[in-house]
Amino acid sequence: MNAIKKLGMLVLLMAVPAMAIASGAGVHLDTAPVNLKDQASLQRGAKLFTSRCLACHSASYMRYNRLTDIGMSEEQIKKELEMPEDVKIGSTMQAAMDSNSAKLAYGVAPPDLSVIARSRSPDWLYTYMRSFYVDISKTSGWNNTVFPSVGMPFVLADLQGEQALESEQHEGHDIKKLILKTPGSMQPAEYDAAVGDLTNYLVFMSEPSKLVRQQIGWIVLAFLSVLLMLVYALKKEIWKDIH
Ligand code: HEC
Repeated sequence: MNAIKKLGMLVLLMAVPAMAIASGAGVHLDTAPVNLKDQASLQRGAKLFTSRCLACHSASYMRYNRLTDIGMSEEQIKKELEMPEDVKIGSTMQAAMDSNSAKLAYGVAPPDLSVIARSRSPDWLYTYMRSFYVDISKTSGWNNTVFPSVGMPFVLADLQGEQALESEQHEGHDIKKLILKTPGSMQPAEYDAAVGDLTNYLVFMSEPSKLVRQQIGWIVLAFLSVLLMLVYALKKEIWKDIH
């Protein structure tokens, strides 16, 4: 094999795992409606996160008072997120359940979710939280098409309702589909929007300074453009007598 072919093979081999991860190993992922500038959405996501996820998962890199960045006052944070009395506004978000008890109860310790939007993609998270279905063969009674045999029980079932995984014949192929069997308190579109807010919040948590960083980027670019014009004017001034 010549060197170029070898290099080609190497690039291909390196790309294979990346492709497998990107495609979620064959599972179709829906596009998450992420918009870090939508503060109302981020606030709704924060409420859903603290009321529904913090029971088991921590967000150890996230301090409550950091939520002032998404337009909440300290009063609002305390009240609307129902912060426990003994937790300080500058504290990080800790799970109510300690990880050993959680491990005993669910077989796996619930991972910290601070940077989950970076280890899993936003689209993965958005699809995952909409892909739980009833499976009586599992201890929790739940399974998930995006994360098969997941140890997490479906904690948003009262909102989405109960889905079942059913097979459908389509042009000779067996296609599996999630069907809503028992409705929850939210309409399907309403539930998708709520999970969209939650995903948006998880993305914010994984990089809370992203917005600030982008703003600084624009300021630096504007500064460099002004500098370029000044330097160009200066160059013209210096060289004008020589030509
Ligand atoms: C009753 C406890 C419990 C609650 C409440 C809970 N989870 Fe989980 N979660 C778990 C456990 C246990 C796992 C580990 C599952 C496994 O690895 O099989 C998990 C796993 C996950 C994962 C996959 C992590 C990974 O990449 O391996 C995500 C994402 C997640 N949870 C998000 C959430 C969100 C968002 C909420 C709130 C809506 C939530 N969880 C509420 C127990 C819980």
